[in-house]
Amino acid sequence: MSAVAVVTGANRGIGWQVALQLAERGFQVVLSARDAGAAERAAAEIRQRGGQALPYALNVRDPQAAAGLAGWLETHFGQVDVLVNNAGVFLDNDVSLMDLSDEVLNLTLQTNLLGPIYLCRALVPLMKAKGYGRIVNVSSGYGALNDMGPYIAAYRISKAGLNALTAELAAELTDTNIKVNSVCPGWVRTEMGGASATRSPEEAAADLVWAATLDEKGPSGAFLRYREVIPW
Ligand SMILES: NC(=O)c1ccc[n+]([C@@H]2O[C@H](COP(=O)([O-])OP(=O)(O)OC[C@H]3O[C@@H](n4cnc5c(N)ncnc54)[C@H](OP(=O)(O)O)[C@@H]3O)[C@@H](O)[C@H]2O)c1
Repeated sequence: MSAVAVVTGANRGIGWQVALQLAERGFQVVLSARDAGAAERAAAEIRQRGGQALPYALNVRDPQAAAGLAGWLETHFGQVDVLVNNAGVFLDNDVSLMDLSDEVLNLTLQTNLLGPIYLCRALVPLMKAKGYGRIVNVSSGYGALNDMGPYIAAYRISKAGLNALTAELAAELTDTNIKVNSVCPGWVRTEMGGASATRSPEEAAADLVWAATLDEKGPSGAFLRYREVIPW
């Protein structure tokens, strides 16, 4: 039985590349996207290239959806080895905290922070049952507390919170072979990063796949960029 990897927001951008590269390494990929059609199209593209990929419609903002995914994984595979919390939004570029709307604040925190919390809570029990797991929280340098502001407050706070989730969960899992890390992918040419960004989605995804396949000696509870530990 192949190892099973869940990637959120995998219909495009960095998430799509992570799903593809995990499939190329032999993982059974569960390609999740909030739009069912987009998930199916992206999974079909991986299958056409010879990989194993199944679509799963999931809006990370929905706590019930995470529990539903856990039940579905248990039924279909009885396990999950890797979770890549990739789905994210960046809605407040150049917006001051004082001008930030409640809508943007809520959408950002629900997607970038609460979603990963829901998914970790839902999937860690399956990892514990197997005695193995790798969780990658796709973070950002904007979430580094030593490099805060000005502006972009909602996104920064969401990623700083995501980093806190990494540290907290890793501490709770110290005596297990479940590793949890935050990874900043660098500045990447996607819809979010724009055309001027310095890294390709392929390069960024390779670093995330590295973190998703760390051996037992690899770090846990770390903030990583370009495969090195960086300050919180
Ligand atoms: N690009 C960069 O330079 C950069 C730098 C640092 C960190 N990051 C992080 O890297 C991750 C991926 O970014 P990207 O550049 O690939 O962005 P992207 O091209 O904008 O893709 C974002 C993905 O997240 C999905 N998504 C958004 N809200 C969702 C929700 N509620 N439920 C499920 N999926 C949802 C999107 O789905 P839809 O197609 O349905 O919208 C899309 O698949 C994000 O966490 C981002 O913060 C990116």
